[in-house]
Amino acid sequence: MKRAFHFKNNVLHCEDVNLQQFSQNRATPYYLYSEAQIIENCQAVLDAGKDVDFLPCYALKANYNPAILKLVRQMGFGADVVSGGELEFALKAGFPANKIVFAGVGKTEAEIELAIRTGMHSLNIESIEEYYLVHQVAARMKKPLRIAFRINPDIEAHTHDYITTGRHLNKFGMPLSDAIKLYEHAANEYYLLPVGVHVHIGSQILKAKPFLEAAQYLRQVVEQLRAKGLEISTLDLGGGIGIDYEDDFQKAEAELPIKTVLPQYLHALKDLNVKLVVELGRSIIGNAGILVSRVLYRKQTPLKHFVIVDAAMNNLIRPSLYQAYHSIVPFILQDVPKQKVDVVGPVCESGDFLAKDRMLPVMERGDLLAVGGAGAYGQALASNYNLRPLIPEYLVSGDEVKTIYKGQSIEDIANQYEW
Ligand SMILES: Cc1ncc(COP(=O)(O)O)c(C=O)c1O
Repeated sequence: MKRAFHFKNNVLHCEDVNLQQFSQNRATPYYLYSEAQIIENCQAVLDAGKDVDFLPCYALKANYNPAILKLVRQMGFGADVVSGGELEFALKAGFPANKIVFAGVGKTEAEIELAIRTGMHSLNIESIEEYYLVHQVAARMKKPLRIAFRINPDIEAHTHDYITTGRHLNKFGMPLSDAIKLYEHAANEYYLLPVGVHVHIGSQILKAKPFLEAAQYLRQVVEQLRAKGLEISTLDLGGGIGIDYEDDFQKAEAELPIKTVLPQYLHALKDLNVKLVVELGRSIIGNAGILVSRVLYRKQTPLKHFVIVDAAMNNLIRPSLYQAYHSIVPFILQDVPKQKVDVVGPVCESGDFLAKDRMLPVMERGDLLAVGGAGAYGQALASNYNLRPLIPEYLVSGDEVKTIYKGQSIEDIANQYEW
């Protein structure tokens, strides 16, 4: 496939859209996504699972724009949700309930009731106390519920501390011994239907090794449960496959980890005769989106060159929150000198930056730039900090561009308050 984001005649394009032209007279900042890239990512996942009993789910937390949800649903995906709100969005976007999985350490009673009403694929239980509440609510509603137990496998995923989830120092999941006790208990309960176990070892993982360790761990868990006569029909393998945040749309595209790593994870468990569920967010939408921003000012201090742009940490918090690296590319490739700069936004925090000490071509006021790999955990984590409205989102398909979120005005925000 032609790269979704690429340079043609030295101008950044998304599919067949010249982004310099598209941005003329258009307010920035904004998010822009490529439909072709989303489809390619989904297809890679489907291909990885073509020989296994497979339920690929899309993790709504990465980006819950309804247009994206519908596209992913049309590719045959289910949904992974972490709140009642995400569950409602998934249902509204048309995901069949029996393809929805729901994990989360702090589900409220109302969320559990909603989950039970839908008849979802499985509610993934993360603690002993949650188990007893789910049991009580299902019995009260007299409606059986499929459940799975989220186990914390204590596997090192070699990712940022804030996005590792499968260690004993993290709040997620429960020790295996608790899960086994609860599994045995649930097997004898009328309203609880235990279908399997769930792990999610972390996010932005680029190598197969941690996933293969997780697979080995899960194999032992299945053997232990089966040895006790317990039925297990589903393994939820979590998400966490990474993307190349250094992609500058100029070098040849590196093989996507969903094409290289995911097949290995699935194949390592193929012979267990269970349904394999994955919950992928970043690897579906991350490389399919950019954040577009304009240069407002340049500023020099005795120590630094700053490029001040109109996007900020309230639009894309990953650099501030995780020291995450995102490629930054000017819309027009020119033969100009490079300069080491900090790319910063207008928010009144020193932590408001998109890049630090980055060698970039010299840019001037009004120049446009794209922040790469911004499709996942970008708009989804955006806020109104400093009373900055949420920004529009556009979806490109061939030479067409659709507005899929119109953005907020200050009036929209003001109207949510009593004056
Ligand atoms: C339980 C669970 N599943 C799936 C995901 C999606 O992860 P990713 O976007 O890295 O694929 C997350 C992310 O935090 C998660 O916590």
